[in-house]
Amino acid sequence: MKNIIFIGPPGAGKGTQAQIAVERTGLVHVSTGDLFRAALKQGTELGLKAKGYMDAGELVPDTLVIDMLLERLDKPDITTGVIFDGFPRTLEQAHTLDTTLAARSSQIDSVVLFKVDDDVLLKRISGRISSKVTGMVYNKYFDPPRDAEGNDISDSDEFVQRADDSEETVRNRLKVYHTQTEPLIDYYNERGVLHTINGEQAMEQVTSDLLQVLDELMA
Ligand code: AP5
Repeated sequence: MKNIIFIGPPGAGKGTQAQIAVERTGLVHVSTGDLFRAALKQGTELGLKAKGYMDAGELVPDTLVIDMLLERLDKPDITTGVIFDGFPRTLEQAHTLDTTLAARSSQIDSVVLFKVDDDVLLKRISGRISSKVTGMVYNKYFDPPRDAEGNDISDSDEFVQRADDSEETVRNRLKVYHTQTEPLIDYYNERGVLHTINGEQAMEQVTSDLLQVLDELMA
């Protein structure tokens, strides 16, 4: 059983790289942001409670996130380990995760930090679109979706922007990241499990750096 955390500011590429990391490692991708968006789509009470915080770019309160995560970890597909994407985001969440894993004779084996400057993130997020049909994430500027002939189809109705990707909300998400989530970098660095990757590189280079870390871990 191996457990990895992907940490980094909004738009750093955590979700994009997680799709590749899952294929390479066979671990299960657990994104708390995706879980909240799925809950909202299903119209559950949890989804509706989370919506206000997400739309404002604030963190959803720890108790709600932690309850949802613990429920996810009890699902039968969690056998080989997890890639945690967007969790933990506060020290309280990190402590709970440590305790939960220890109770299962498990631990966090590696934390990958995707480092990207705020200016780059704002541009990336303004270009982020996803397919209503497949859920795949693209970028109008850096990685546009294409049809069979290779034409850019970013402007088709199939692609939508996330509700919390407006510039004002993103600026608040960045502020929240710097104040509430960045302290986790020291927390994991002190435990000797932190790996920092330059997330400003081209996607393929970020993937290559990531695979080096993952291959070492899974060997
Ligand atoms: P969440 O869904 O986790 O969002 P986030 O952490 O803000 O991260 P993003 O999904 O925005 O970015 P990403 O790093 O995955 O980037 P991506 O790969 O898409 O959380 C949303 C909200 O839910 C939070 O604000 C909060 O309210 C709530 N929440 C979630 N978890 C919580 C928790 N634990 N506690 C409390 N609240 C919680 O890439 C971005 C774009 O850039 C894409 O278009 C992609 O194609 C492009 N791109 C990726 N890599 C590159 C590259 N190298 N070069 C160029 N473009 C690239």
